Amino acid sequence: MKPPAYLDNHATTPTDRRVVAAMRPFFEERFGNPHSVEHGYGWEAERAVGMARSEIAKLIAAQPAEIIFTSGATEANNLAILGAVRAAPPSRRHLIISAVEHACVREAAAMAAHDGARVTTLPVDRNGRVDPAALRAALAPDTLLVSIMAANHEIGTIQPLAELGAIVCAHGALFHVDAAQALSTQAIDVTQIQADLLSISAHKIYGPKGIGALWGRRSVKLTPLFGGGGQEQGLRPGTLPVPLIVGFAVAAQVAREERTNDARRLSVQRDRLLRALQNAVPDLRVHGGMENRLPHNLNFAFPGIPAQDVLWQVREHIALSSGSACATAAIEPSSVLMALGLHQEQALEGLRIGLGRFTYETDIDVAIDALLQARSEILSARA
Ligand SMILES: Cc1ncc(COP(=O)(O)O)c(C=O)c1O
Repeated sequence: MKPPAYLDNHATTPTDRRVVAAMRPFFEERFGNPHSVEHGYGWEAERAVGMARSEIAKLIAAQPAEIIFTSGATEANNLAILGAVRAAPPSRRHLIISAVEHACVREAAAMAAHDGARVTTLPVDRNGRVDPAALRAALAPDTLLVSIMAANHEIGTIQPLAELGAIVCAHGALFHVDAAQALSTQAIDVTQIQADLLSISAHKIYGPKGIGALWGRRSVKLTPLFGGGGQEQGLRPGTLPVPLIVGFAVAAQVAREERTNDARRLSVQRDRLLRALQNAVPDLRVHGGMENRLPHNLNFAFPGIPAQDVLWQVREHIALSSGSACATAAIEPSSVLMALGLHQEQALEGLRIGLGRFTYETDIDVAIDALLQARSEILSARA
């Protein structure tokens, strides 16, 4: 039987074959430790890490020396938030985040609050956007850092980063951006958005799981979260996973070269899917605005039908989800959908689709049929 069409690219993206091919020798004959400075195996690995660092920096128009490798965006977000708070004087312990941040940002901020920080959570509008005026009003003399994501993992909302960055910069606070979901289709230039810190995840851009990076301007003071060797300028000790870093770099290079084409194709597929669903289900509810939205994202509900019922019906045909992957173990309404002002029951109806580089037109046909068939079966079982 054919495997279900994969429509959950916000949870993770399939690893691109070019990435796998580039990684393979670093698992096999090129296995050296990049921190071994006394022989050729180490030098070869170190060279590969250096080239990868440059390629990853290019993805965000940054300097290679400012890339700190981490295990992913979760760790990068924790290092940015907790690392900055722990390095700051007690007089600057105010953090601002948005209500739609990923759980790892919200929890890092909660941990910082435990360490004595004050946290302000900015609401979003019905489209999921942060209001720049609300950010301006929330800034205080003790504001240390503002953390706003580039694009949302559930509703795909793209935030006005340049506008928000200018406000944060004028205030003299640090601007941290969680760019995990944006970089597969969006160009981001850290100077243009006036960011100080930015988190990246390889497995959201068709790279391997378990590797990511925190980019940080040299002037930003961070306290490391772990003790160990002096790797990554003492900010993130531990032996670097060379194969993953090499794969991450190839994923970054391909993203830079192909993201414009991918974005164009995916928005056409996404719009076709949405139109077909809306034509068949006039009261279909779309969550988040269609403007300023990732081209590969759709989040919607069949009103009155819990997402879990639909997911069960379609499981053999398509793979999609009801919210962020990290929150799916417990069926709680998505905090992102609740932040849009939905009621709990409505939030439990939300279905998230993430198309990707390897989504084909036939997958869209399968998705349309499976979703509409599931809806009519659920409704007729009730009648
Ligand atoms: C917006 C956002 N930030 C951070 C993360 C965590 O990334 P990682 O899996 O690399 O730790 C995710 C993953 O779902 C995400 O969507």
